[in-house]
Amino acid sequence: AKVTYIEHDGKEHTVDVKPGLSVMEGAIRNNVPGIDADCGGACACATCHVYVDPDWVAVAGKPSAMEESMLDFAETVEPNSRLSCQIRVSDALDGLIVRLPQSQH
Ligand code: FES
Repeated sequence: AKVTYIEHDGKEHTVDVKPGLSVMEGAIRNNVPGIDADCGGACACATCHVYVDPDWVAVAGKPSAMEESMLDFAETVEPNSRLSCQIRVSDALDGLIVRLPQSQH
């Protein structure tokens, strides 16, 4: 599935991510900058924060309770904020667009 990551400065990276991988893993494997993923995808660091494009929020789904509480540690959280390690890529998400925050802390 194609996933487009848009950096804070507007730079776009469209990459092919294998279904089953997370949106975070798709970024790391394709050297997309802007996602740190300090915890390696365990929903325990909030440095894989992304903003899901409004058109994709419904398809990407809602964060779990655990993800919600981790998002409290991310900066500038918006209603469309997600932790990208918790979004699993599937064919249904082909064309997904996520925006990256200014920085990950
Ligand atoms: Fe740590 Fe997603 S990689 S919460």
